[in-house]
Parts: sequence; structure tokens; C-alpha cells
Amino acid sequence: MCDNNSCGSARPNMKPVYPKADKYPEFAKLVDEEKSQVDRRVFTDEEVYQAELKQIFARAWLFLAHDSQIPNPGDFIRTSMGEDDIIVVRQRDKSVGAFINSCPHRGNRVCHVDSGKKSRGFICNYHGWSFGIDGGLRGTDGGVYDKDETFEKSEIGLPPVAQVQSYKGLIFGAFDPEAPSLEEFLGDFTFYLDIMLDNDQGGTEFIGGAIKSEISCNWKFPAENFVGDILHASWTHQSGAQAILGGGVDLGKRYDELAFQASIYGHGIESNLDKVGNTRTLGYPDLVDYVFDLSEKAKDRLGEVRARAIGAVSSSNVFPNFSFLPGQNTFRVWHPRGPDKIELVVWTIVNKNAPDHIKEQYRKGVMMTFSPGGVFEMDDGENWEYSTKVNEGYMTRQQPLHYALGVGTLDEERDLPGIVHKGSKNEANQRLFYSRWAEFMKYDNWDDLQNSKVTLPQNKKQQWSD
Ligand code: FES
Ligand SMILES: [Fe+2]
Repeated sequence: MCDNNSCGSARPNMKPVYPKADKYPEFAKLVDEEKSQVDRRVFTDEEVYQAELKQIFARAWLFLAHDSQIPNPGDFIRTSMGEDDIIVVRQRDKSVGAFINSCPHRGNRVCHVDSGKKSRGFICNYHGWSFGIDGGLRGTDGGVYDKDETFEKSEIGLPPVAQVQSYKGLIFGAFDPEAPSLEEFLGDFTFYLDIMLDNDQGGTEFIGGAIKSEISCNWKFPAENFVGDILHASWTHQSGAQAILGGGVDLGKRYDELAFQASIYGHGIESNLDKVGNTRTLGYPDLVDYVFDLSEKAKDRLGEVRARAIGAVSSSNVFPNFSFLPGQNTFRVWHPRGPDKIELVVWTIVNKNAPDHIKEQYRKGVMMTFSPGGVFEMDDGENWEYSTKVNEGYMTRQQPLHYALGVGTLDEERDLPGIVHKGSKNEANQRLFYSRWAEFMKYDNWDDLQNSKVTLPQNKKQQWSD
């Protein structure tokens, strides 16, 4: 856990190395699609990291907040887009604004707390400039500046995030005014997001605040882990699962022929369709009963496959760094803080209509499993830290990493949106995640990005958008 002032701050001793734009296509070649290999420099190189901040985090849609966190005008959340500090604030007309949390006078933060209710605005500590919840400059403390005739107050304010849109309660922002709509960016991946967001007519809410921590790893290790690495669970999490589920459990035996991986534009989900495998690990029998009941009722809304996925052993990532676990009901963002560090923010999501004791069990279950003190998060964090650190060795990073599991398992028959592969123990989604990463490095326009021949299932696009 970290306090408000350390999390989200710039890295100490940071020495950014800004690459020239003509290097970006070279970085894209660090992903070798033919050999299913990734060059280790993508996890350690400062130039590659700076290129990511510009090519990916300054262009893609990034998760900001859930509607339920800022229900009323003036309610706000402080978060990040890449390394940029952001204030997300509900406006008087109920729309959502997002602004760079940096005073246009000398750059100081104007908001230091993580969240607040019914704020009338933000005041900079340094010289007292004040800003409305719409980001506009209101005053300059004593009006010294105001008396200067060259100073035009109405032209100055907190820089707005160019686009803010939401999907079923999840609010996203994009710095790039040219970015396509959020709906286009997500594409048919909304089909899978709905497993969490639309399994009940009452909608969802985030409960219990946020859990924050720092992990000394590259942001792509957790993202690739959630996009499609159930392979690690039966090895990495076996002892943790035994502690919760009892000594006889064998995670390796829980996978069936219905399991799949699906990917669209580098967003991905893997699911085992075992109904309650993930929920069971939260340790509350009441939750298992709740999910069985919910799954049965949700068949009409979501169909058989997604109804079974509600509580299943499953994980997902929305490109680039927004992950969730159906069944364990946690959403999280892996904020980059340099090539070798992330700030992790974790939330618990529940159905608004769920009984209070069920919501409380989800909240406690997430803390026991996927928080800094949770059995599974600790298992994962250690692996990602060593993967990042060890890749820094000069000779070590001359060797590529292998992502070839499941090459040749494309499932063209399965009636599901996306590029679908057979089995959840597969590295197909990870390959497509890195292909998307390479596309963001390589392409400087959204036409190329949205008409990708690699990360968009061309043959199914028509079928699912009809
Ligand atoms: S830096 Fe904010 S008022 Fe001067
Ligand atoms: Fe894990």
C-alpha cells in the first residue's frame, strides 16, 4: 500500500530517453509474429517505454472511473493516463470531464487527494490559482495576475482530456481527438465485457474504495497475464488455492473442451466456462450459490456461454492496461511508472441489485485473493518482478521470449465474436496482444489501426456488426 503522495508521483532519478519517431517501426519489429517471439527489450528499454507513452497511452482509450464512484456534480477521482496525472469530475449537467492535474502556472498538482465529493473546484497550493470543476481558471489569488492587461483568464485552464465516453458504467478517456469512438475502439469485445457489466438488469457499481500498491515490474507482464495466461495458475497459484479450497484441489484438472480464448484489437479473454471456478476461490459458499442462481437467470440476457462465464475460471484485459476477472469480480489498472514499475489500482465490482451480505463477501474475497495482501496477487507480483529484473541483464536480453503455445488452434467454427482459439491454456491472446502493441508502434493513424489485418477478425466483423 502507498500513501496519497507517493503513488502516482514521477519516478525518482528518472532519466527519460526520448526516441525519434522514425524509430517506432523498429520497435514494432521487436515482436516477431512468424516465430511467436518477443524481444526482451520491450520490458526494459527506456526508449521503448517512452515510445509506449506516446504511441499507446497518449492515443488509446484508457479506463478512468466507474459511474458509481462519481454520482453527483463535483464528485471526483484522481487517476492516471499513462504517467499523466488526471482528475475525473462529474459536471453540473451530469456529463464527465477529465483534466490534466497540473497547474498551467508552474505545473504543480492542483488536486492531491485520491477522490472527493461535491467539490466546487481545485486550488493550487503554490500561488493560489483556482479552477472550476469544468477545468476553467476562476481566480489568481488576490488578482495580481488579473490586473495585468496581457493576461486573458478565459483562455487558461486545466488541459482537458480530448474525449471522454462511457460503456455501461465504465468511463474511459482518450487524449487523441482523432481516436475513434470508444465503441469502435472496443469493437465486439463489448460482447465479453457484458459478462461482468450486464448479467443483471440493475447494472453494476464499484464498492469499498480502491486498493493501491506498487510492483516493480513492466506493465505488460500483468496485462499479458490477464489477457490469456491461465497456464500459470495451476503452477503459480496451486498452494494458494489449496489454502482456500482445501488440500485435495488440483487446479490443473479443471479445464474442459469448452474453454476458449477470444481476442479483438488486442483486447482478450480466456474462459473455462466451469461456472464457479473463480468465485469458489473467494472462499464464501454463499457467493457460489449466488453465482449459480445468477448464471441460470442470466441465460436469457447473455446466452449459455456467457452465463456460464460469469463465475468461471477466466481472466481478461482491455488493451492496453485495464484488466478484470469474471468470478472474482475485480477490475484493475496497471499504471506504468517507468519500464520497471507499475502502480496497481484494484476495485471490487458488484451488481447493484445484489444483497448487501453478498456485496460484502465479494469485497472481502477480493481483499483475500487479489490485493497486496491477497494470496494470488502476491504469487503473481513476485513472478512479474523477477521476470522484469532478470531481463535487464545484457546477455539475457539478447535471447527472445517464447509465446508459441497453441499456434494452429484457431477455431473458425465457434459461434463467438473475435479471433477465437481452442482451449484457454493457450498463448494465442498473448500473441495478439503483442501484435496490437506492434501495430500501435508502427501505425501513426487510426485508419490503419482500426482496419488491422492481424488483430481484427476480418471474416467475422460483418457477421457480428449486422
Ligand atoms: S504553480 Fe499553480 S499557482 Fe503557481
Ligand atoms: Fe495469477
